[in-house]
Amino acid sequence: MYNEDINAKLVLRGAEKDIKKLLNIKVEIKTNDDYGYNENIENKYVVIEVATKSKIAAFSMTGLPGCCGVCVSHYSHVANRFQGKGLGTLLCGIRKDIAKTMRYSCLLCTDVDDNLPQQRILDRHGWKKVHNFKNIRTGSTVNINVVDL
Ligand SMILES: CC(C)(COP(=O)(O)OP(=O)(O)OC[C@H]1O[C@@H](n2cnc3c(N)ncnc32)[C@H](O)[C@@H]1OP(=O)(O)O)[C@@H](O)C(=O)NCCC(=O)NCCS
Repeated sequence: MYNEDINAKLVLRGAEKDIKKLLNIKVEIKTNDDYGYNENIENKYVVIEVATKSKIAAFSMTGLPGCCGVCVSHYSHVANRFQGKGLGTLLCGIRKDIAKTMRYSCLLCTDVDDNLPQQRILDRHGWKKVHNFKNIRTGSTVNINVVDL
């Protein structure tokens, strides 16, 4: 295992404690290692509530093809019953910590322009909206957001 992977695991163990403090429930964060996914495709992280074994949040992070300095954050999601409690905000900070630990220089994500909770989270963590466009596949207005690490 590379040093970066070991450090990312340490970030995750710290994150589990922070989530426990925030929600007062015990969680574990599973990664693609635990699921046996091919880590070259994507790094998938799933937050599981230990008592119920249910998934309460998930996110994925992938290096941008062709540039080893950029990490793309995608599929971030908090289960309905845990929304509005600060978990999305906490996990956004954790994604930055993981990407830093993995030695990326900047982190990129997209969001749909009417997703106010996600925009609050990104603002709070220092992301900048650098572009927006209309997705001709979906008709949605999509923002491209970036934060330096
Ligand atoms: C976006 C998402 C991850 C936010 O997760 P969360 O755990 O609810 O976020 P938080 O509790 O940290 O709240 C974040 C901010 O949004 C605000 N917020 C939460 N729910 C809201 C709502 N329904 N309407 C408006 N603002 C809301 C919170 O007040 C908070 O703002 P504040 O920091 O100024 O108080 C979650 O709503 C989600 O999974 N949505 C569906 C998937 C999705 O949109 N993913 C992001 C893809 S880019």
